[in-house]
Amino acid sequence: MKRIAVLTGGGDAPGLNAVIRAVVKTAINEYHCEVFGIRDGYDGFITPGGVVPLDLAAVRGILPRGGTILGTANRGNPFARKVIRDGQEMIVDVSNDVIAAIFSLHLDAVIVIGGDGTLRIAQELYQKGVPVIGVPKTIDNDVGGTEVTFGFDTALTIATEALDRLHTTAEAHHRVMVLELMGRDAGFIALHAGVAGGADVILIPEIPFRYEAVLRKVRQRVERGSNFSLIAVSEGAKPLGGTQVFRQPGDAIYVPRLGGIGQQVAEYIQSQGFESRVTVLGHIQRGGTPTAFDRWLATRYGAAAVRAAAAGEFGSMVALQNAQVITVPLAEALAVPKRVDLQGDAIRTARGLGISFGDDWS
Ligand code: F6P
Repeated sequence: MKRIAVLTGGGDAPGLNAVIRAVVKTAINEYHCEVFGIRDGYDGFITPGGVVPLDLAAVRGILPRGGTILGTANRGNPFARKVIRDGQEMIVDVSNDVIAAIFSLHLDAVIVIGGDGTLRIAQELYQKGVPVIGVPKTIDNDVGGTEVTFGFDTALTIATEALDRLHTTAEAHHRVMVLELMGRDAGFIALHAGVAGGADVILIPEIPFRYEAVLRKVRQRVERGSNFSLIAVSEGAKPLGGTQVFRQPGDAIYVPRLGGIGQQVAEYIQSQGFESRVTVLGHIQRGGTPTAFDRWLATRYGAAAVRAAAAGEFGSMVALQNAQVITVPLAEALAVPKRVDLQGDAIRTARGLGISFGDDWS
């Protein structure tokens, strides 16, 4: 193995720079490799100045930094790229140009750090002969094949701190505070932060809720002497028989943007006579320095990705299982998206604590 490349794609997540640093250091120190960084996801392969050499100096000091020194793109799918031709906007497949660029760089491996969408593209490129290794990233924690993605712990920590802060103001004003959290179609951030931050109600996409059940919990708390409540809502949560709430519809390039369910829950609670406010935590969950756990996991993932490349384990993804970093086939990891296990101990624990999921159990 002489030359490898690394890229970051999709939404950013705390720990991306820690992976890049580990890839560069391991490749240089252990394998005496040349490393190239690809700017702005797959786009960098086909845009001028998109391929940059990465040496030890390039990654100095980046371990605690949020974002990614390489930039990222969540519209950079080479199989469906938006271009302007003859003044007309159109979607074209530029994957052959990307593959040609990869081959002309004589790369022995391409390490792709991304979530579901970016890793799916990696898998397609692998099927066309590109030697890829995936690294699972996302605050949503929704990638299969691994117990956890890096970035999740930081998002969860920020969300928990937000709940702690809302707790004191909720109590002071006797209000119902609703916190809308990210996670797309997976409820991990709301569930874990909700338990860690002492939420009274947690609404997640995996459990459609009933407004009446949410209200019942708020009322029950008042009856028991707590005239305030905390509600953690996943952006992808939806009422039973209803639909998710979107801020922006999707198109051929962008997935639809979720958002707004927190406002609807707060308005309903307010309409029932309980003063309520909503906070949408948004991209604060993704920005800034990674937690120690995410730095630790991201570093292990980066080093393991280089070892997997050296061993020729292409078409695989590094993953955490039983506290060990291993590799799993990308196809296997992507086969089923990870969702909250409704029979798992986390849900059971929360129910045992009296937390309502807005369903009939509550
Ligand atoms: O996948 C990560 C994530 O932050 C989701 O939780 C959220 O729905 C989405 O990305 C937001 O995307 P964007 O950065 O395009 O607003």
